[in-house]
Amino acid sequence: MIRTVAAMILAAASVQMTCAGESPEVNHSAAFVQGEQWLDTDGNPINAHGAGMLYHDGRYYMYGEYKVGETVLPEWATWECYRTDVTGVSCYSSSDLRNWKFEGLVLKAHENPDHDLHASKVLERPKVVYNASTGKFVMWAHVESADYTKAAAGVAVADSPTGPFEYLGSFRPNDAMSRDQTVFVDDDGKAYQFASSENNATMYINELSDDYLRPTGRFTRNFIGASREAPAVFKHDGRYYVLTSGCTGWDPNSAQIAVADNVMGPWTVWGDPCRGKDADKTFYAQSTYVQPVQGCDDTYLAMFDRWNKTDLQNSRYVWLPIVWGNDGMPTIPWRDAVELPESKK
Ligand code: DGJ
Repeated sequence: MIRTVAAMILAAASVQMTCAGESPEVNHSAAFVQGEQWLDTDGNPINAHGAGMLYHDGRYYMYGEYKVGETVLPEWATWECYRTDVTGVSCYSSSDLRNWKFEGLVLKAHENPDHDLHASKVLERPKVVYNASTGKFVMWAHVESADYTKAAAGVAVADSPTGPFEYLGSFRPNDAMSRDQTVFVDDDGKAYQFASSENNATMYINELSDDYLRPTGRFTRNFIGASREAPAVFKHDGRYYVLTSGCTGWDPNSAQIAVADNVMGPWTVWGDPCRGKDADKTFYAQSTYVQPVQGCDDTYLAMFDRWNKTDLQNSRYVWLPIVWGNDGMPTIPWRDAVELPESKK
């Protein structure tokens, strides 16, 4: 009886992550409750922070920061640069967005103290894209020094979505700082890196070479002086959208959505897409990625991190579907849980 009541309450406050307009039977046990500990298929907590997703050959792959161990604030810190040791980038795979199989660390920390991936450094926001012309999986990530002065992008490459990824090195794209970042591949196969630059004040959109390994040298400066970070880019009905956060370290702030007819801009800011309880604080979370749900025209899953800045490995996740208004404006209403259909496979 108690379980039935709990299921009814959850059903009232949750949303079905199915194709817009469809209402298939959904098992309520398949709901992810926002901010609770989410488990992989082995029963371990999903550890993929600042994550991105890739859909490839009928499977979703999720890549994120694998945060384990103590969170430290260095004694020399002049701001809240809490960090955990670099361990690597985790990968999980799923056929249904609900059941996630741990595929291991696909890019691992390095033993050399001078290496970008040494435990003493910072590795954030890995994003993996597939290059159809080279057949390679390409990872871009924010690689940092412990004091966040390096502000560079690291690139790695693999033959399989589950790695192992070979680290190729880091640089500042177009000689500009690169911190929070994502990579977006357009329908024509061209790829773009979006990165918080100029000390996070301005977002750069860097066009990438055909192999996705380098910038071409063509870039635009966007949201100049507006201090936006945590970019998540998606395309709907031929228009481009970028969801971002403000810039307040690990603390939550208001999200913002902008729209453009051209991926390199100019962008028009539409404002905060979040709706409902704690919307002005992005539900105490920060954007990381927006994943189109395969086979569903208008269904997009917006992914957020709910950071626990003094215990980063215990940071949690918030996933919410995007709701499209008649004006084309996307909104992200709060729901206590997101129901993801169990795989029929
Ligand atoms: C906000 C960024 O979005 C995070 O990825 C991380 O870099 C923190 N700042 C560090 O304070």
